[in-house]
Amino acid sequence: MTVVGARPQFIKAALVSRALQQRTTIREVLVHTGQHYDPNMSDIFFQELGMSPPDHHLGIGGGGHGRQTGRMLEALEVTLLAEKPDAVLVYGDTNSTMAAALAAAKLHVPVIHVEAGLRSFNMAMPEEINRIVTDRVSSLLFTPTAEADHNLAREGVDARRVHRVGDVMYDAARLLATSGDDSRSIRPRAPYVLATIHRAETTDEFTRLASTVAGLRRLARRFSVVLPLHPRTRAAVDGFEISLQGIDVRGPLGYRDMAALESAAAVIVTDSGGVQKEAFFHGVPCVTVRNETEWVELVHGGWNRLASPDSADAIESAVDAAMSAPYPARPLLYGDGTASVRIADILASNLSAAP
Ligand code: UD1
Ligand code: UDP
Repeated sequence: MTVVGARPQFIKAALVSRALQQRTTIREVLVHTGQHYDPNMSDIFFQELGMSPPDHHLGIGGGGHGRQTGRMLEALEVTLLAEKPDAVLVYGDTNSTMAAALAAAKLHVPVIHVEAGLRSFNMAMPEEINRIVTDRVSSLLFTPTAEADHNLAREGVDARRVHRVGDVMYDAARLLATSGDDSRSIRPRAPYVLATIHRAETTDEFTRLASTVAGLRRLARRFSVVLPLHPRTRAAVDGFEISLQGIDVRGPLGYRDMAALESAAAVIVTDSGGVQKEAFFHGVPCVTVRNETEWVELVHGGWNRLASPDSADAIESAVDAAMSAPYPARPLLYGDGTASVRIADILASNLSAAP
């Protein structure tokens, strides 16, 4: 039973579901918690990436962490008891991930975590709590990077449960990110900066969001700045009455339109985990508006720069530095594009070995 709920999970699951469909010994039941529910945060990905509709849709979106996670736990337990899966497959670090992992572990259903072992070491992030809890109760942990393996080893996770398969987002970028002429028409005239901002850590405090937006507005005096706006950020800028004037604001985009914008950007400015890596996949310099990142190898290698979300100056200077510095050659940091096939292979042998 695969449990998804948020935008990046639809993209990751699309690849692994395809690979699972090739194995006759595995039947996948897909559960959507409903965490993301707007058509352009959810349905668009199912359509565009050719995914089957979910077998169960729990309709649980919005609300604070306690209410959202609690309602998911309750509903997922009912679904697990009805479906009796041999294992539960979860992705990433959202509330849907942790709720599914907890519900399954309490019912003694093995948990399989894709994108295991990532750490920001910042417990103020809801995602960090979700990752640690999920990894702790997982039986099989699929890691994308060597750094993730080190993190799990440091926490005492038995190495026999850890499989470094690479990053399914890289598989997605290779297989799904092809853009037709239509999506190219959404690009502004070059050079442009593509920005995404959505993390609770960036959006929930007025001064931090105001300085981040001030950084983008400064850039917008010199370049086109395209900002596909996440609904959380839309609600926050409206609530705080922060002006986005001068920025080319769009609604949330589909995966291929986003890939088309990413691949031709001069620089990407983001607080997204997925978008940091996609910048690298497309060979575009990135500025991450956070004080730390889980994807440390991108910063160490010079493909990504951190800039404090509390400083418009820092954001502008990091973009200038990213534009002027030579872009280093890119090794295969995230596997060879076969992570999803490798996950399906390992699941096929583990699940068929179960009694
Ligand atoms: C969630 C994840 C975050 C991930 C992000 C991907 C958690 C704790 N956070 O954050 O790790 O990076 O998804 O995009 O799980 N909303 C809508 N329509 C939607 C979805 C959300 O209007 O379709 C609004 C609602 O006001 C909602 C708010 O956005 O309360 C926040 O949504 P939520 O799913 O709780 O968290 P995200 O910020 O999306
Ligand atoms: N994405 C998208 N449309 C958008 C913004 C992002 O398709 O308007 C894709 C993006 O290309 C990446 C994924 O969503 O594949 C990243 O999700 P998000 O930034 O919401 O979450 P995170 O990766 O930070 O958890």
